Amino acid sequence: MLLILNGPNLNRLGLREPGVYGSQTLEDLERQCEAWGAELGEAVTCRQSNYEGQLLEWIQEAQEQGFSGIVINPGALTHYSYALRDAISGQQLPVVEVHISNVDAREEFRHRSVTAAVCKGKISGLGFLGYRLGMEYLIEAEA
Ligand code: DQA
Repeated sequence: MLLILNGPNLNRLGLREPGVYGSQTLEDLERQCEAWGAELGEAVTCRQSNYEGQLLEWIQEAQEQGFSGIVINPGALTHYSYALRDAISGQQLPVVEVHISNVDAREEFRHRSVTAAVCKGKISGLGFLGYRLGMEYLIEAEA
């Protein structure tokens, strides 16, 4: 069972900078992840929050709740949240970091991720497909 987490401002997908993030909504993304989960034979739970503390609690509780891995798009928290980094490194589940846009092709401040080093890996710039690739990795890693 995989946990898909989206952080701050990702509830604005479809409305927010469509030239960067596309015209599909968070609901489209979550339905897509569930459909991919069904195809890959893995249950998927999707959650989004604009609040750092809420994301930390979901990560802290994930293993106890029976999840086997986490795909996370931390939004801008990626670039500065040591609390998020510590929450990821302070638990046992494998985590894959995903960004819809190519963060390395954007502003300088987006080139730095304080969370990627404590994740299994980072996928950036492949749109929604990055979530699927993260899910596939975690399913493979489980086997
Ligand atoms: C993002 C990239 C971040 O720099 C940005 O703050 C976001 C979205 C992405 O999915 O491309 O909110 O994580």
